[in-house]
Amino acid sequence: MNAPHSPSLLDGVPMAPSDPILGVTEAFVADANPRKVNLGVGVYYDDQGRIPLLECVRHAESERLKSSPHRGYLPIDGLAAYDRAVQELVFGSQQKNIVTVQALGGTGGLKIGADFLKRIQPGAAVWISEPSWENHRQLFEAAGFAVNAYPYYNASTHGLDFAGMQRALESLAAGTIVVLHACCHNPTGVDLGKEQWDTILELVRSRRLIPFLDLAYQGFAEGLEADAYAARLFAEAMSPVFVSSSFSKSFSLYGERVGALSVVAASAEEAVRVLSNLKRVVRTTYSNPPTHGSEIVATVLNNPQLRALWDRELAAMCERIKAMRKRLVDSIQSRVPGADFGFVLRQRGMFSYSGLSREQVRRLREEHSIYAIDTGRICVAALNSKNVDYVADAIAKVIAPL
Ligand code: LMR
Repeated sequence: MNAPHSPSLLDGVPMAPSDPILGVTEAFVADANPRKVNLGVGVYYDDQGRIPLLECVRHAESERLKSSPHRGYLPIDGLAAYDRAVQELVFGSQQKNIVTVQALGGTGGLKIGADFLKRIQPGAAVWISEPSWENHRQLFEAAGFAVNAYPYYNASTHGLDFAGMQRALESLAAGTIVVLHACCHNPTGVDLGKEQWDTILELVRSRRLIPFLDLAYQGFAEGLEADAYAARLFAEAMSPVFVSSSFSKSFSLYGERVGALSVVAASAEEAVRVLSNLKRVVRTTYSNPPTHGSEIVATVLNNPQLRALWDRELAAMCERIKAMRKRLVDSIQSRVPGADFGFVLRQRGMFSYSGLSREQVRRLREEHSIYAIDTGRICVAALNSKNVDYVADAIAKVIAPL
């Protein structure tokens, strides 16, 4: 006979909502339809529908495994060669008073930065763009901040609401933390131009706001150097500046969780104190980071031949995404001649903010097994020559008047 049920601490735990991005992948995995397509999560697939193992990674990895690497702990702030390589890639050769800690992906970099900021600026508010990456709000709220949003996207032009963004930032109190997407804005694919970045820098600096740049897609807009424009601009002009960065997409190393947090300090002495505190955050969160991904990235970035190979492989991924944007737009427009999806060609990075409504996204999922984010964000990098017409056909059906 079962013992009578006694009340447990966990009896009243409510069900947490499913993650708006990774929850879509869970639903996709459970779908038995062989034609299913996952346009939810930001992952690049090749034309065969596989997550590629880059040649530069294959090479660095096989060399590493041949040497039977040790599995000892890394320093709390990560592999030194990796941290240096991140700094050079993000900030160029001019870096001064910048500290970098290896982190568990870009999300890990954001989280270390958020927890550190909460310790030193506990009363600050955080402002993110409207819309923003779904996890920004929850991440900063989980760190204890109130999170607000500044206007960013103009749905009617499919472009930037720069005046709205400026007005909102001008009204913020000194010490407010402003999260900025350094390139390939997630989810909209709409970025600031150079002059607009210059204006935002002046505004952030003069109002003494704290910029936190999220750089998860360096190399996916105009190339590695051009995409670092905002990070370098801020780093050269002011401090503090926080930059989280990631190699998940650019090295196709999603599961290895290779990212970083860099903080620009005002002096060498300040940088040392900041680093000591970032290490406290890491140590009390997950102790120290994993070895494999950072070793591979450091090997590639520090070897001229492998680095050149990576540049070519990254450029090829970008080209394929652009080609898929074009195929998708042409294919939808051939089915629905009046539909104007030309804005998809102007968006940068992996995503298209398609303008599809929640209801249309639901129909894509339920009627066609095509999975997108409820906001209408689709990952163009998951399209390929075999599924793009199927997707275009389904979009044509769900946008047709009933
Ligand atoms: C995305 O936006 O889909 C990616 O950044 C993956 C993630 O962790 O959400």
